[in-house]
Amino acid sequence: MTKINANFLKLPGSYLFSEIARRVNAFTEANPNCSLIRLGIGDVTLPLAPSVIAAMHEAVDEMGKKESFKGYGPEFGYDFLRQAILEHDYKARGVELEIDEIFISDGAKSDTGNIGDIFCTDNIVAVCDPVYPVYVDTNAMAGRAGDYINNKWSRLIYMPCVEENGFLPKIPEQVPDMIYLCFPNNPMGTVATREQLKVWVDYARDNGSVILFDSAYEAFISEPDIPHSIFEIEGAKECAIEFRSFSKTAGFTGTRCAYTVVPKALVRDGASLHALWARRQSTKFNGVSYIVQRGAAAVYTPDGQREIRENIQYYKENARVIREGLSAAGLKVYGGVNAPYIWCKTPNGTGSWDFFDRLLNEANVVTTPGAGFGPSGEGYIRLTAFGAAQATKQAVERIAAIL
Ligand code: MLT
Repeated sequence: MTKINANFLKLPGSYLFSEIARRVNAFTEANPNCSLIRLGIGDVTLPLAPSVIAAMHEAVDEMGKKESFKGYGPEFGYDFLRQAILEHDYKARGVELEIDEIFISDGAKSDTGNIGDIFCTDNIVAVCDPVYPVYVDTNAMAGRAGDYINNKWSRLIYMPCVEENGFLPKIPEQVPDMIYLCFPNNPMGTVATREQLKVWVDYARDNGSVILFDSAYEAFISEPDIPHSIFEIEGAKECAIEFRSFSKTAGFTGTRCAYTVVPKALVRDGASLHALWARRQSTKFNGVSYIVQRGAAAVYTPDGQREIRENIQYYKENARVIREGLSAAGLKVYGGVNAPYIWCKTPNGTGSWDFFDRLLNEANVVTTPGAGFGPSGEGYIRLTAFGAAQATKQAVERIAAIL
């Protein structure tokens, strides 16, 4: 008799954004004429930049000619894209990497989930609470999280990020082997300073831990001197892996392209994690299409940079509208300055899912309940700044009107 991975049976309900989609679908079926504004999942709404489209068109034409047609690409990505990443995202910030430390992939979600393949299932994992659910659920699937009891996984270390600590994790009492950090943070929109990241890097090096650093939202950093990469911190190459994405930076949520940096200096148990990830990717992944990689590379051209900056500015303006509008309506709001997410306290201690339902039913606005990101997210909702500007303004007005 075939046995299944029984860890899947321990997972509670469905994936957060699937559950939200289910509730929203039920609502729209019951209210077909209602005009719903979706500020739930962080999905972009602006079209791809003209430079990206032009590069992809050109690449499509190349694929249509015998002389320039391409089959399987280099397994870890084309050098034209890796080189552009190296120059613009790292060298320009004073970080020296080797080109083959960059692995092109189809998404930071898949990479942050798949990275667990190279780590022992006995490792102790620390996550922020609240947290992007992919880190938790994928570790649960691997058997690293233990059992789900009273809204918590028994083997995970939760690092509460609450109002009292400025929504930043503290070094935990028990030493973790794997530490997931995400800055700018999803869902809370907070950032970590150089000094704060240095504490984590020193800690990970001293204890032999690995930091899994998700910086998918780095393009939204507005304040100067906030690090965009963990590798801006001295010593990080010996203890960290970094995940980046074109999804939010350049509107690639539906196009799919991202990359992960695994430094060669990162060694654990006598093994190079770079070599393990290369082995894992070459076995289980066949790369991102040439057309999409050409589109991603166009992001780094002068026109591409200008165009994506304009789009990011548009979303940042939405963030300002949400932040200021909800705050004027009497709600306590956080984030939204260096990140496309606004973390909002529910009024009068209302539960997250109750407030989510109220906003859906009375204001016809979709948000994300904070409790879906972990126990410390209870009493909050998250709003995304990735909506259309007009709809975002309207959503804020509708929320203000029902409060
Ligand atoms: C989110 O809403 O948290 C993100 O869109 C999810 C993701 O990037 O996978």
